[in-house]
Amino acid sequence: MKDMIEDHLVAAEPWYRPVADEVALFQAAYAARMPVMLKGPTGCGKTRFVEHMAWRLGKPLVTVACNEDMTASDLVGRFLLDANGTRWQDGPLAFAARHGAICYLDEVVEARQDTTVAIHPLTDGRRVLPLEKKGELLKAHPDFHLVISYNPGYQSLMKDLKQSTKQRFGALDFAWPEAAAEVEIVAHEAGVSEDTAQKLVEIGARARNLKGHGLDEGVSTRMLVHAGQLIAQGVAPVAACTMAITRPITDDMDMRDALDAAVATFF
Ligand SMILES: Nc1ncnc2c1ncn2[C@@H]1O[C@H](COP(=O)(O)OP(=O)(O)OP(=O)(O)O)[C@@H](O)[C@H]1O
Ligand SMILES: [Mg+2]
Repeated sequence: MKDMIEDHLVAAEPWYRPVADEVALFQAAYAARMPVMLKGPTGCGKTRFVEHMAWRLGKPLVTVACNEDMTASDLVGRFLLDANGTRWQDGPLAFAARHGAICYLDEVVEARQDTTVAIHPLTDGRRVLPLEKKGELLKAHPDFHLVISYNPGYQSLMKDLKQSTKQRFGALDFAWPEAAAEVEIVAHEAGVSEDTAQKLVEIGARARNLKGHGLDEGVSTRMLVHAGQLIAQGVAPVAACTMAITRPITDDMDMRDALDAAVATFF
């Protein structure tokens, strides 16, 4: 099946609640075609933001979930064998560059460095992508834009972006939204009352205080939305929080007790 660029247009507005000036900053970066790095913990709205921005800008969005088995060919493209012989197939990066899409490389640190450097010629003044096997120097479409996401909490010395990669990007920091914004997000996304959303957000705040004291990563907005969604399905709030928050995030019994206590304070 042929991948069509039109299929990557974001048809309906992905709802996004801005938390600071990230929309204006992204727009300015896009206007300057400055590659953008979205930094922040899991479940804090990075993917939703990029979908929203693609919709706002009216540009197609090509998303790639990066992993350590990914090769440069997976990004750039390869020859395929079919009944008529061999045929070149653009990888997602070449496809996006050719057609002027926003290319979103999710969790880019997961990719090996020799894969990551494939983006270098596209993210400097050259804006080209050499398709070496094909013998083509692909000039990026004027609308092409590159966005990567990066969770600073997970990186180790072994797994980090090279300075020469990092320094090609402008970065936007994402963090947990302040309480009022997060209440709005949870209420909207889960379809629960503001009162219920407020309680979930307060549970989230308590749980985030445990980060570093036994929890590796704070409870994400995504988890609070999940709890809300179960409540909206008619699940009792305590059971919903148990399933969506405390059980997924830790196997440590003391930590579970602490989280259960936070839940019991509000429900
Ligand atoms: N500012 C926001 N506006 C609207 N929804 C949000 C916002 N922040 C978080 N959400 C909600 O949280 C969910 C998770 O967000 P998202 O998938 O964008 O996280 P992420 O930062 O991409 O996480 P990961 O790093 O795990 O991919 C979204 O589906 C959405 O329901
Ligand atoms: Mg994401």
